[in-house]
Amino acid sequence: MKARRQYQCQECGAVAAKWSGQCGDCGAWNAIVETVARSGEDKRQRFAAGGDTPRVQKLGEVRTEQSPRLDTGLGELNRVLGGGLVAGSVVLLGGDPGIGKTTLLLQSLAATRQLNAVDALYVSGEESAAQIALRAERLTLPVADLKLLTETDVERILAEAARERPAVLVIDSIQTVFSDALQSPPGSVSQVRECASRLVSFAKSTGIALYLIGHVTKDGAIAGPRVLEHMVDATLYFEGEPDGRYRMIRAIKNRFGAVNELGVFAMTDGGLREIANPSAILLSRHSQPVPGSVVMVTREGTRPLLVEVQALVDESQLGNPRRVTVGLDPNRLSMLLAVLNRHGGVSTAGCDVFANIVGGVRVHETGADLAILLAVLSSLRDRPLSHELVAFGEIGLAGEIRPVPGGPERLREAAKHGFKRAIVPRGNVPKPMPEGIDVTVVSRLDEALDVLRD
Ligand code: TYD
Ligand code: MG
Repeated sequence: MKARRQYQCQECGAVAAKWSGQCGDCGAWNAIVETVARSGEDKRQRFAAGGDTPRVQKLGEVRTEQSPRLDTGLGELNRVLGGGLVAGSVVLLGGDPGIGKTTLLLQSLAATRQLNAVDALYVSGEESAAQIALRAERLTLPVADLKLLTETDVERILAEAARERPAVLVIDSIQTVFSDALQSPPGSVSQVRECASRLVSFAKSTGIALYLIGHVTKDGAIAGPRVLEHMVDATLYFEGEPDGRYRMIRAIKNRFGAVNELGVFAMTDGGLREIANPSAILLSRHSQPVPGSVVMVTREGTRPLLVEVQALVDESQLGNPRRVTVGLDPNRLSMLLAVLNRHGGVSTAGCDVFANIVGGVRVHETGADLAILLAVLSSLRDRPLSHELVAFGEIGLAGEIRPVPGGPERLREAAKHGFKRAIVPRGNVPKPMPEGIDVTVVSRLDEALDVLRD
């Protein structure tokens, strides 16, 4: 039976025969997209006859074999996936064009095939077979037997994949794939969603592990793939400064592991190289202590990470002084400056305040609060803090310093990298104390400020 074209409002679900800018039912603008109408008639007849009616099961009777995990050959990618690629899972890999998604998966597939003795199929809709072969050759990847298909028609991709039955299937990228059932162009929400849902159900029914590569648009969302996030098992973002050397891969959603897990790579002329010890590269080594710089221990997923927080407080030439942050939330900075003023008696009115996380890392956790304020204060007073000091802790509006998760691991990481002194919230004091690091406990902002005085 041939699928019929129809248009559906994404807000209220109303169906129309023609596209329009505004939904006639709920009045939402730009919410109508093309969808495939599938007739329910023959399905209903089949189920009524008791054919392949879905069978209700008791949860206890469901077989729960551990899905085997495939070693991706890249320790950092394994970690972000929660310990390897789960067979039958669907992973969405998003990132800016040119960040290295194709390189990452080509490198990983080469290793996955060898380590697990499985077959893999790479479907490219972006680059020609010759371009991919050239890149693999330049990176000297052992991919002579990697199966490659340059195709963008989802029906043909599914037919080829069903014939080849690889253990791992890569679609590069989901924005280039299209289905004949829809009139919309490839890359549109309708096409991306329709094609992804066909590929996902194929992966689930055959137990093939599927990677979908998705591009991020200029405004930051993955075009289309945002609408895919609920369909996939894991969403990974590949990010980094376009001209920077480091690339980070982060799990935003993962049904098989911890989220916000971070994998770090360096882009070299020999492809992506893993960085197993990111703390070491993220710290800029000042030979002398400098004002406005404090090292903090943040946590990315399950791994503690040392990063340097820098602040610069400068007399403002503007009526409305600036609060500018890189890698931090600017609203959080404004809030912290208000707390510093009210509870620490230190005003930054009339000053521009800049705060930065070195190395292009983004820190979203509140554990950075204490380090930010110490850096601001150090810059304001033009007094350097010891470069053997680390700090972490959340600051509340009442000026209290609260504990953050993972205190002992953070302290251990700092001690491992040779830090001699730590300022931590009272609730984060480990028992027993880690060796080689002197821990100062604070529970209020004024106590932390006192530490700076001595
Ligand atoms: P690519 O994997 O094609 O990015 P994506 O698939 O996300 O669009 O990566 C392309 C970029 O990576 C390109 O700007 C060049 C750089 N690169 C290197 O620096 N070294 C290498 O060995 C390779 C293969 C790419
Ligand atoms: Mg690519």
